[in-house]
Amino acid sequence: MFNIIVTDNYDQASSEAFKIMRDVLRKENPVLGLATGSSPVGLYKKMIADHNTNGTSYKNVITFNLDEYIGIPKTHDQSYYTFMHENLFDHIDIPEENTHVPVGETDNPEEECAKYEEELQKYTIDIQVLGIGSDGHIAFNEPGTPFDSLTHVMELEEQTRRDNARFFDDNIDLVPTHAVTMGLASIMRAKKIIMIATGANKADAVYDMIKGQKSTDCPASILQDHDDVTIILDKEAATRIK
Ligand code: F6R
Repeated sequence: MFNIIVTDNYDQASSEAFKIMRDVLRKENPVLGLATGSSPVGLYKKMIADHNTNGTSYKNVITFNLDEYIGIPKTHDQSYYTFMHENLFDHIDIPEENTHVPVGETDNPEEECAKYEEELQKYTIDIQVLGIGSDGHIAFNEPGTPFDSLTHVMELEEQTRRDNARFFDDNIDLVPTHAVTMGLASIMRAKKIIMIATGANKADAVYDMIKGQKSTDCPASILQDHDDVTIILDKEAATRIK
């Protein structure tokens, strides 16, 4: 069963997500699973503000990111490595060696996937932050991805590349075609999951995830099998589930 929170707007959704994150950060050595994209940016801003105001330290925090594009260097302004540094890591006191972002700049992505999964398996993620793609993907697990998948290479759907073209000068041709992504089984190992989904373009995917039949057609529907998922929506993303 999902715990569903419907808020008035993105800022409120970020505050609700932060309340759950704050409790996990009180643990001794928390392990965070982190996402990129627009959905978690407000949460990361609140984590940075809390670090600055209340001194919440990340010295003993370990992080694992969900995914990374293949074919752009990690120094590229749209790599997820860069995204995480700009939106969170550079503004808190987390040691660089505690952060893990899959490596997409490689001639052997399969090997990178195996290495990433091996490292991930040494830990249990206390809280996994997720967004959802308009096609129902979580991380970069596109429709059709097996539910038992571990970290793997994914060819991105055209819809996903179209959605993400906004970060690449609105030019879909500049959006990488493949990514390294944690698999659906990797994500399901997390103890607690929070998903932030806002905006009308997420309403159909949110409906399929919550009310649809569990099916690889909507990768996010696998979350129906997890016993601690909080889905935080704004009114627009929640229109179809009412
Ligand atoms: C990003 C990720 C993706 C995004 C999803 C939604 O690390 O794993 O699944 O969460 O594409 O993206 P936004 O939040 O930009 O709408």
